[in-house]
Amino acid sequence: MQDLISEEALRRRIEEVADEINADFAGADLLNLVVVLRGGCFFGTDLAKRLTMPCRLDYIRVTSYSGDKSSGVVSLMSDIRTDIRNQPVLVVDDIIDTGFTMAWILRYLDLKSPASVHVASLLDKPARREFEVPIHYVGFIVPNVFVAGYGLDGLDDRMANIPRIVAVEPTNEEARIPPTRERLPSLH
Ligand code: IMP
Ligand code: MG
Repeated sequence: MQDLISEEALRRRIEEVADEINADFAGADLLNLVVVLRGGCFFGTDLAKRLTMPCRLDYIRVTSYSGDKSSGVVSLMSDIRTDIRNQPVLVVDDIIDTGFTMAWILRYLDLKSPASVHVASLLDKPARREFEVPIHYVGFIVPNVFVAGYGLDGLDDRMANIPRIVAVEPTNEEARIPPTRERLPSLH
């Protein structure tokens, strides 16, 4: 196990991501955060505390993962409880790996006719992408190794409470912050 992103770096970067969202959604009456359980829980909570517009927090739980590989099947274990019809939605997840889970969630939420859907993911592992998904807010780009901590489970299901992000396998690469992008035009 090897440290990849420190607690302090997580805190600082989440503040920056929150600033981007605050700017993009400035003046919004209500933003519906849909946090993807279980992995998105720490990020969703820490991010929500830094958002300045009124936020509704809801949770969706899906399984698509067993061991260190995506199984290729998504099951909905627990749906959101709030009505998101005609409302702006921000889906918050821990990591986009193959993109399969997020692609499924976006298709599913779209059936509920939200006004808009954006995606925030703490981590992005682009080397593994198989399904193109829009990710509007990314915390860190991580190398192609299995990572754990800060809500993400490791291989043995007992690493989620580590307060930083660790690489389960050794790597020479570092996590990096994506380049800053243009502000998104009026999102609400
Ligand atoms: P995807 O469908 O392949 O994009 O991955 C879906 C989910 O698998 C993510 O939301 C995570 O919850 C989990 N996952 C993917 N890669 C990792 C990892 O490196 N560590 C821990 N969980 C992961
Ligand atoms: Mg997840």
